[in-house]
Amino acid sequence: MQHAIVTGGQWGDEGKGKIIDILSGRFDVVVRYQGGNNAGHTVVINGRKFFLHLIPSGIFHPEKICVIGNGVVLDPFSFLEEVKGLKESRIAVSPKNLCISDRAHLVMPYHKAIDQAAETLKAGKKIGTTGRGIGPAYTSKVMRSGIRAADLLSESLLVDKIKENLAYFNYLLKGYFKANVLNVDDVIEDILSVREEILPYIVNSAYLLERFRNEGKSILFEGAQASLLDIDHGTYPFVTSSSVVAGGVGPGTGFSPAHIKSVIGVFKAYLTRVGSGPFPTEQTNGIGEALRQTGSEYGTTTGRPRRCGWFDMVAARYAQIINGYTGIALTKLDVLSQFEEIPVCTGYQYKGEIIHEFPAELEVLENLKPMYTFLPGWKAPISGVDRFDMLPREAQDYVRFIEEQIRCQVLIVSTGPDRNQTVMMPGMS
Ligand code: GDP
Ligand code: IMO
Ligand code: MG
Repeated sequence: MQHAIVTGGQWGDEGKGKIIDILSGRFDVVVRYQGGNNAGHTVVINGRKFFLHLIPSGIFHPEKICVIGNGVVLDPFSFLEEVKGLKESRIAVSPKNLCISDRAHLVMPYHKAIDQAAETLKAGKKIGTTGRGIGPAYTSKVMRSGIRAADLLSESLLVDKIKENLAYFNYLLKGYFKANVLNVDDVIEDILSVREEILPYIVNSAYLLERFRNEGKSILFEGAQASLLDIDHGTYPFVTSSSVVAGGVGPGTGFSPAHIKSVIGVFKAYLTRVGSGPFPTEQTNGIGEALRQTGSEYGTTTGRPRRCGWFDMVAARYAQIINGYTGIALTKLDVLSQFEEIPVCTGYQYKGEIIHEFPAELEVLENLKPMYTFLPGWKAPISGVDRFDMLPREAQDYVRFIEEQIRCQVLIVSTGPDRNQTVMMPGMS
């Protein structure tokens, strides 16, 4: 198998965890390249449910190597908690099958404090972040004052950097946000208490990936969040703070894009969003509620109810442009079984004009009118169907419609949360 990238094509929670777990069987190495523990990926294996936030979704294949790339922002406490949880579930996790890039930036307690204080201050204009300190951690990185995993190697250097950072962040917390400051000794003590446990995981990951490549190993790059949450291409400012799109793999891992030929986009058969921001096809009615209940649309990380709506083809085609998908995984098709007909948004109307390009301006995104094409529903349960020809004709047509409209082949169709509730299309075998 050639190296490949998987990214979310919508606003997150498309089922990337499930798809990456399945695909991991075909690769040797799985690498996260951006985001942090704002991600929440659910993997269901023979009815057992696992939740991942930082650790790549390849971890359930004990013979594979998982790497947390330099583009990830790593909360050391959350990382160790996740390792502990997996070990308690008898999943093999150790520095033998899991590594952290020495260049990955750390999410520190003051980043979380600022994230939460900033949201509180915004009152009615909240972004609705996960409160995990992601934006502030990337801010530190870009301000060139961040603390990297490599800094854990020297205790004295680490302590100096924490003191320097905290002087700045406490000033902000107290002076600007009118929030509680953090005690520098507590922060230092907490970090030093986990330092030794993290150290064995740290590697120079660009060299490691280059070695794997030279050995002929295949690498799967796992995107968290999704294209419409990308810092550059998403619905700014209602986005996350990293480069989510496929191109983020280069800066996020040091692996050259010249070596990668496949990019798989994961799309839910409808659409959800957590947090604030524009969502043209949102259904704030009984339909949205029906999708939420049937699809169990509650956040894996924060437990918040997800906003639900119809598939947005204008947004999907945009995701195709900014990622260059060579294949699609379409998930949660089973959730649509209840509907007589299924609307798909195929254009927008704004001030009397029809637009087919995904706009940058919030004002437009918030006030446009979606134009729908109505596809017939199938009104029959399809949970667990694992062959395309066993799907009702209308369900097959729905998949084909999405394929034609995005102009990209569907490689995987998911009909339930479990590993085996999956249709592998001919292009995948
Ligand atoms: P991720 O963040 O993209 O990995 O997605 P999440 O795990 O946050 O959310 C997807 C949810 O849908 C999880 O609860 C999955 O177990 C579940 N899921 C994934 N694929 C399917 C599917 O085809 N059908 C149904 N009903 N649930 C699915
Ligand atoms: P996975 O990988 C869905 C959203 C938050 C908020 C915005 C910014 O599970 O698909 P942040 O904490 O990143 O600063 O929040 O981004 N968000 C996600 N929404 N799935 C995710 O990850 C998300 N990660 C962040 O809800 O709107
Ligand atoms: Mg999720």
